[in-house]
Amino acid sequence: MRITLAQSTEAFYSLVAWRIAQAIIEKPDAVIGLATGRTTTGVHAALAAIYADHPFDTSRVTVFGMDEITNVSRTFPGSCYDMLLRQVVRPLNIPMDHFLMPPTYSDDFNRECRTFEAAIDARGGVDLQILGIGENGHLGFNQPGTPFESTTWLSRMDETLDARIRRESGAAPEDDLGGFTIGIKNIMMSRRVILAANGANKATIVKKALLGPVTPEVPASVLQLHPFCEALLDPDAAF
Ligand code: GLP
Repeated sequence: MRITLAQSTEAFYSLVAWRIAQAIIEKPDAVIGLATGRTTTGVHAALAAIYADHPFDTSRVTVFGMDEITNVSRTFPGSCYDMLLRQVVRPLNIPMDHFLMPPTYSDDFNRECRTFEAAIDARGGVDLQILGIGENGHLGFNQPGTPFESTTWLSRMDETLDARIRRESGAAPEDDLGGFTIGIKNIMMSRRVILAANGANKATIVKKALLGPVTPEVPASVLQLHPFCEALLDPDAAF
Protein backbone atom coordinates (compact mmCIF):
# COMPACT_ATOMS: atom_id res chain seq x y z
CA MET A 1 0.00 0.00 0.00
CA ARG A 2 1.36 3.36 -1.00
CA ILE A 3 0.19 6.30 1.07
CA THR A 4 0.20 9.80 -0.41
CA LEU A 5 -0.50 12.75 1.82
CA ALA A 6 -1.70 15.87 0.02
CA GLN A 7 -0.70 19.20 1.54
CA SER A 8 -4.20 20.64 1.43
CA THR A 9 -7.73 19.56 0.57
CA GLU A 10 -7.46 21.39 -2.77
CA ALA A 11 -4.24 19.53 -3.53
CA PHE A 12 -5.95 16.28 -2.54
CA TYR A 13 -8.79 16.80 -5.04
CA SER A 14 -6.33 17.76 -7.72
CA LEU A 15 -4.00 14.79 -7.07
CA VAL A 16 -6.79 12.23 -7.27
CA ALA A 17 -8.16 13.96 -10.37
CA TRP A 18 -4.74 13.86 -12.03
CA ARG A 19 -4.45 10.14 -11.29
CA ILE A 20 -7.67 9.62 -13.27
CA ALA A 21 -6.61 11.95 -16.10
CA GLN A 22 -3.22 10.25 -16.30
CA ALA A 23 -4.80 6.79 -16.47
CA ILE A 24 -6.85 7.92 -19.49
CA ILE A 25 -3.94 9.71 -21.16
CA GLU A 26 -1.66 6.68 -20.76
CA LYS A 27 -4.34 4.21 -21.91
CA PRO A 28 -7.09 5.93 -23.91
CA ASP A 29 -9.30 2.81 -23.83
CA ALA A 30 -8.89 2.36 -20.07
CA VAL A 31 -11.76 1.07 -17.94
CA ILE A 32 -12.21 3.22 -14.84
CA GLY A 33 -14.47 2.54 -11.88
CA LEU A 34 -15.82 5.64 -10.19
CA ALA A 35 -17.39 6.26 -6.79
CA THR A 36 -19.87 8.93 -5.80
CA GLY A 37 -20.21 10.97 -2.62
CA ARG A 38 -18.88 14.16 -1.12
CA THR A 39 -15.24 13.13 -1.55
CA THR A 40 -15.46 12.35 -5.22
CA THR A 41 -17.65 15.36 -5.98
CA GLY A 42 -14.58 17.50 -5.27
CA VAL A 43 -12.36 15.12 -7.21
CA HIS A 44 -14.67 15.21 -10.22
CA ALA A 45 -14.81 19.01 -10.19
CA ALA A 46 -11.01 19.06 -10.28
CA LEU A 47 -11.04 16.50 -13.09
CA ALA A 48 -13.48 18.57 -15.14
CA ALA A 49 -11.23 21.61 -14.64
CA ILE A 50 -8.16 19.67 -15.78
CA TYR A 51 -10.01 18.50 -18.88
CA ALA A 52 -11.23 22.01 -19.66
CA ASP A 53 -7.68 23.38 -19.42
CA HIS A 54 -5.87 20.44 -21.01
CA PRO A 55 -8.32 18.43 -23.13
CA PHE A 56 -7.31 14.82 -23.79
CA ASP A 57 -8.88 11.99 -25.78
CA THR A 58 -11.90 10.59 -23.94
CA SER A 59 -13.59 8.97 -26.93
CA ARG A 60 -12.48 5.44 -26.03
CA VAL A 61 -12.39 5.38 -22.25
CA THR A 62 -15.07 3.43 -20.37
CA VAL A 63 -16.26 4.68 -16.99
CA PHE A 64 -18.65 2.92 -14.68
CA GLY A 65 -20.22 3.60 -11.32
CA MET A 66 -19.19 1.07 -8.69
CA ASP A 67 -22.52 1.30 -6.95
CA GLU A 68 -26.05 2.59 -7.29
CA ILE A 69 -29.08 3.16 -5.11
CA THR A 70 -31.96 0.96 -6.16
CA ASN A 71 -35.63 1.85 -6.27
CA VAL A 72 -35.01 5.54 -6.81
CA SER A 73 -35.22 7.04 -10.26
CA ARG A 74 -32.01 7.71 -12.12
CA THR A 75 -33.20 11.27 -12.56
CA PHE A 76 -33.11 11.96 -8.81
CA PRO A 77 -30.24 14.31 -8.15
CA GLY A 78 -28.36 12.02 -5.77
CA SER A 79 -28.61 8.85 -7.81
CA CYS A 80 -25.10 7.72 -8.68
CA TYR A 81 -26.08 7.76 -12.35
CA ASP A 82 -27.12 11.39 -12.21
CA MET A 83 -24.04 12.46 -10.26
CA LEU A 84 -21.58 10.75 -12.57
CA LEU A 85 -23.41 12.00 -15.65
CA ARG A 86 -23.24 15.60 -14.45
CA GLN A 87 -19.83 15.47 -12.78
CA VAL A 88 -17.80 13.33 -15.19
CA VAL A 89 -19.48 12.02 -18.32
CA ARG A 90 -20.78 15.30 -19.72
CA PRO A 91 -17.87 17.55 -18.70
CA LEU A 92 -15.36 15.09 -20.16
CA ASN A 93 -17.38 14.38 -23.33
CA ILE A 94 -17.41 10.64 -22.65
CA PRO A 95 -19.67 8.83 -25.14
CA MET A 96 -22.85 7.61 -23.44
CA ASP A 97 -22.29 4.02 -24.57
CA HIS A 98 -18.98 4.13 -22.68
CA PHE A 99 -20.78 4.95 -19.43
CA LEU A 100 -21.84 1.74 -17.65
CA MET A 101 -24.25 1.95 -14.73
CA PRO A 102 -26.28 -0.57 -12.79
CA PRO A 103 -30.03 -0.20 -13.28
CA THR A 104 -32.01 1.36 -10.44
CA TYR A 105 -35.14 -0.75 -11.09
CA SER A 106 -35.32 -4.42 -11.99
CA ASP A 107 -37.38 -7.53 -11.34
CA ASP A 108 -34.20 -9.60 -11.16
CA PHE A 109 -31.21 -7.90 -9.56
CA ASN A 110 -29.21 -11.14 -9.50
CA ARG A 111 -29.31 -11.23 -13.26
CA GLU A 112 -28.46 -7.49 -13.40
CA CYS A 113 -25.40 -8.10 -11.22
CA ARG A 114 -24.05 -10.76 -13.60
CA THR A 115 -24.87 -8.61 -16.65
CA PHE A 116 -23.06 -5.62 -15.15
CA GLU A 117 -19.94 -7.67 -14.39
CA ALA A 118 -20.02 -9.19 -17.87
CA ALA A 119 -20.16 -5.73 -19.46
CA ILE A 120 -17.06 -4.65 -17.51
CA ASP A 121 -15.24 -7.90 -18.32
CA ALA A 122 -16.08 -7.53 -22.01
CA ARG A 123 -14.16 -4.25 -22.00
CA GLY A 124 -11.09 -5.91 -20.53
CA GLY A 125 -11.61 -5.56 -16.79
CA VAL A 126 -10.86 -2.61 -14.54
CA ASP A 127 -7.65 -0.62 -15.00
CA LEU A 128 -8.28 1.83 -12.20
CA GLN A 129 -10.86 1.72 -9.44
CA ILE A 130 -11.42 4.89 -7.43
CA LEU A 131 -12.86 4.34 -3.96
CA GLY A 132 -14.21 6.53 -1.22
CA ILE A 133 -14.53 5.15 2.30
CA GLY A 134 -17.50 5.21 4.65
CA GLU A 135 -17.00 6.19 8.28
CA ASN A 136 -17.56 2.53 9.20
CA GLY A 137 -15.04 1.37 6.59
CA HIS A 138 -17.51 0.47 3.87
CA LEU A 139 -16.50 0.38 0.23
CA GLY A 140 -19.29 1.04 -2.24
CA PHE A 141 -22.26 -0.52 -0.48
CA ASN A 142 -20.21 -3.34 1.04
CA GLN A 143 -20.94 -2.80 4.70
CA PRO A 144 -18.92 -4.28 7.60
CA GLY A 145 -19.27 -8.06 7.60
CA THR A 146 -19.40 -8.43 3.81
CA PRO A 147 -17.28 -11.45 2.86
CA PHE A 148 -14.09 -10.69 0.96
CA GLU A 149 -15.23 -13.18 -1.74
CA SER A 150 -18.35 -11.14 -2.53
CA THR A 151 -18.97 -10.30 -6.17
CA THR A 152 -21.49 -7.79 -7.52
CA TRP A 153 -24.63 -7.94 -5.39
CA LEU A 154 -27.56 -6.06 -3.97
CA SER A 155 -26.85 -5.09 -0.38
CA ARG A 156 -29.22 -3.78 2.24
CA MET A 157 -28.78 -0.17 3.24
CA ASP A 158 -27.62 0.44 6.76
CA GLU A 159 -29.88 2.83 8.65
CA THR A 160 -27.64 5.89 8.72
CA LEU A 161 -26.90 5.63 5.03
CA ASP A 162 -30.56 5.01 4.28
CA ALA A 163 -31.53 8.20 6.12
CA ARG A 164 -28.82 10.22 4.39
CA ILE A 165 -29.72 8.96 0.94
CA ARG A 166 -33.40 9.66 1.57
CA ARG A 167 -32.47 13.21 2.57
CA GLU A 168 -30.20 13.67 -0.42
CA SER A 169 -32.26 11.87 -3.06
CA GLY A 170 -35.71 12.95 -1.94
CA ALA A 171 -36.93 9.32 -1.93
CA ALA A 172 -40.38 8.74 -0.45
CA PRO A 173 -40.69 6.89 2.91
CA GLU A 174 -42.38 3.90 1.21
CA ASP A 175 -39.52 3.41 -1.27
CA ASP A 176 -37.44 0.40 -0.29
CA LEU A 177 -33.86 1.46 -0.98
CA GLY A 178 -31.10 -1.01 -1.73
CA GLY A 179 -27.45 -0.73 -2.67
CA PHE A 180 -26.30 -2.33 -5.90
CA THR A 181 -22.55 -2.64 -5.58
CA ILE A 182 -19.55 -4.34 -7.05
CA GLY A 183 -18.23 -6.77 -4.45
CA ILE A 184 -14.99 -6.82 -2.51
CA LYS A 185 -13.60 -9.46 -4.85
CA ASN A 186 -14.31 -7.25 -7.88
CA ILE A 187 -12.48 -4.37 -6.21
CA MET A 188 -9.51 -6.62 -5.48
CA MET A 189 -9.44 -7.82 -9.11
CA SER A 190 -8.96 -4.24 -10.38
CA ARG A 191 -5.48 -3.69 -11.71
CA ARG A 192 -5.03 -0.48 -9.70
CA VAL A 193 -6.97 0.96 -6.82
CA ILE A 194 -7.01 4.41 -5.27
CA LEU A 195 -8.63 4.94 -1.91
CA ALA A 196 -9.45 8.63 -1.56
CA ALA A 197 -10.26 10.04 1.87
CA ASN A 198 -10.57 13.58 3.14
CA GLY A 199 -11.93 15.28 6.21
CA ALA A 200 -11.43 14.78 9.95
CA ASN A 201 -14.47 12.45 10.10
CA LYS A 202 -12.47 9.88 8.13
CA ALA A 203 -9.21 9.95 10.16
CA THR A 204 -10.15 7.18 12.62
CA ILE A 205 -11.41 4.74 10.01
CA VAL A 206 -8.52 5.50 7.64
CA LYS A 207 -6.05 4.56 10.38
CA LYS A 208 -7.96 1.35 11.12
CA ALA A 209 -8.24 0.44 7.44
CA LEU A 210 -4.59 1.10 6.63
CA LEU A 211 -2.87 -0.05 9.81
CA GLY A 212 -5.33 -2.28 11.62
CA PRO A 213 -6.03 -5.97 11.15
CA VAL A 214 -7.36 -7.10 7.79
CA THR A 215 -10.92 -8.08 8.59
CA PRO A 216 -14.34 -8.07 6.91
CA GLU A 217 -15.48 -5.96 9.87
CA VAL A 218 -13.52 -3.12 8.24
CA PRO A 219 -14.10 -3.73 4.52
CA ALA A 220 -11.46 -1.20 3.41
CA SER A 221 -8.77 -3.08 5.37
CA VAL A 222 -8.72 -5.66 2.56
CA LEU A 223 -6.90 -3.07 0.45
CA GLN A 224 -3.74 -3.76 2.48
CA LEU A 225 -3.59 -6.99 0.43
CA HIS A 226 -3.91 -5.31 -2.97
CA PRO A 227 -0.59 -5.17 -4.85
CA PHE A 228 -1.25 -1.76 -6.46
CA CYS A 229 -3.27 0.28 -4.04
CA GLU A 230 -2.61 3.90 -3.20
CA ALA A 231 -4.33 5.68 -0.35
CA LEU A 232 -4.54 9.39 -1.06
CA LEU A 233 -5.35 11.53 1.98
CA ASP A 234 -5.86 15.17 2.79
CA PRO A 235 -4.26 16.53 6.00
CA ASP A 236 -7.49 16.16 8.02
CA ALA A 237 -7.95 12.47 7.15
CA ALA A 238 -4.31 11.62 7.83
CA PHE A 239 -3.39 9.91 11.09
C1 GLP B 1 -21.41 6.10 -0.06
C2 GLP B 1 -21.06 5.47 -1.40
C3 GLP B 1 -19.61 5.07 -1.44
C4 GLP B 1 -18.74 6.23 -1.00
C5 GLP B 1 -19.03 6.54 0.44
C6 GLP B 1 -18.25 7.72 0.97
O1 GLP B 1 -21.80 5.12 0.82
N1 GLP B 1 -21.89 4.34 -1.66
O2 GLP B 1 -19.26 4.66 -2.76
O3 GLP B 1 -17.41 5.90 -1.15
O4 GLP B 1 -20.41 6.82 0.59
O5 GLP B 1 -18.94 8.91 0.71
P1 GLP B 1 -18.45 10.35 1.09
O6 GLP B 1 -17.35 10.67 0.14
O7 GLP B 1 -19.64 11.22 0.83
O8 GLP B 1 -18.02 10.34 2.49
